[in-house]
Amino acid sequence: MEIRVNLAENSYSITIQNGALKNCGDLLSKYNRVLIVTDSKVPKEYSEALSGCAGKKAVVYVMPSGEENKNFDTLTKICSFMLKNNFTRKDCVCAVGGGVVGDTAAFAASIYMRGIDFYNFPTTLLSMVDSSSGGKTGIDLDDVKNAVGTFYQPKSVVIDPTVLKTLDKRQINCGLSEALKMAATFDEQLFDFISNSNFSDEDMTYIIQRSVELKKSIVEQDEKEKNVRKSLNFGHTIGHGIEESANESLLHGECVAIGMVAMSDKKAKQKITKALNRIGLPTSASFDERSVIETIMHDKKSTGDGKVSVVLVEEIGQYKFVDMTKEELLNRLSAVKR
Ligand code: GLY
Repeated sequence: MEIRVNLAENSYSITIQNGALKNCGDLLSKYNRVLIVTDSKVPKEYSEALSGCAGKKAVVYVMPSGEENKNFDTLTKICSFMLKNNFTRKDCVCAVGGGVVGDTAAFAASIYMRGIDFYNFPTTLLSMVDSSSGGKTGIDLDDVKNAVGTFYQPKSVVIDPTVLKTLDKRQINCGLSEALKMAATFDEQLFDFISNSNFSDEDMTYIIQRSVELKKSIVEQDEKEKNVRKSLNFGHTIGHGIEESANESLLHGECVAIGMVAMSDKKAKQKITKALNRIGLPTSASFDERSVIETIMHDKKSTGDGKVSVVLVEEIGQYKFVDMTKEELLNRLSAVKR
């Protein structure tokens, strides 16, 4: 299946197809050189499959895994690697991995020689349903997530759902958390589907497809996050704060899950909590509210007048933007503190 993202400039396709990673020869045939960026935790077989398609012109750069490596040091190393390998503007960068690899490699592609072509081959459910499309690139700086980055659309996104077979349950759940986020804000039918799914291969492909369709529609309306795209931050404001300050080690999608509970009300809160419990995602965590609040106030979503703009869900399939004070945020944090 092919989903087309239609933009004023730089439209592109998202392909969802079992086995697609092994069949990308045509896509890459026009380039002289192909840089494949992956990380130390992504099974080698995936970068090798893509490298096999690209042939002799492929070189692989393996970055260390983990959010802590989404930084200037890694970015510089990727760009230096391209220089050493004589990459020009006629060449391209391919990310094979999750959100960290995708964001960092895309950023490198967007600035190397003022921008060379970029392709994303997401290997985590989270990156398939959300981060691989939409053109956000970036790295973290001074503990602020995605503090530096660009909007730079990929030439194409290729999703091969068969790679999910090597992804552990916790990582799958993180992807389901982001899919549930999209459903909670835009699509009640998808929300009910995820809430009742047995997560068979067929169901997973449908969840990916529908999430990608929703993301496409949002990005087409608001590529640079001026309005409707901000809805994708549902669960993320508190989630990012918890991610950086929790007393336990939590993954991004797990923090988003807790953030969604904090930022929903009424029946939607019950439904979201029930769906997360069924999946096995956390709905609370142990943290120090003050340090979470500090992180939140530094976040890009701070309005500058001491309030923070957040996404609130009261009815599944709908959302609203609300400016919350520090006290309101503290109350919501207390509700998800263990
Ligand atoms: N992951 C949120 C966005 O692409 O806007």
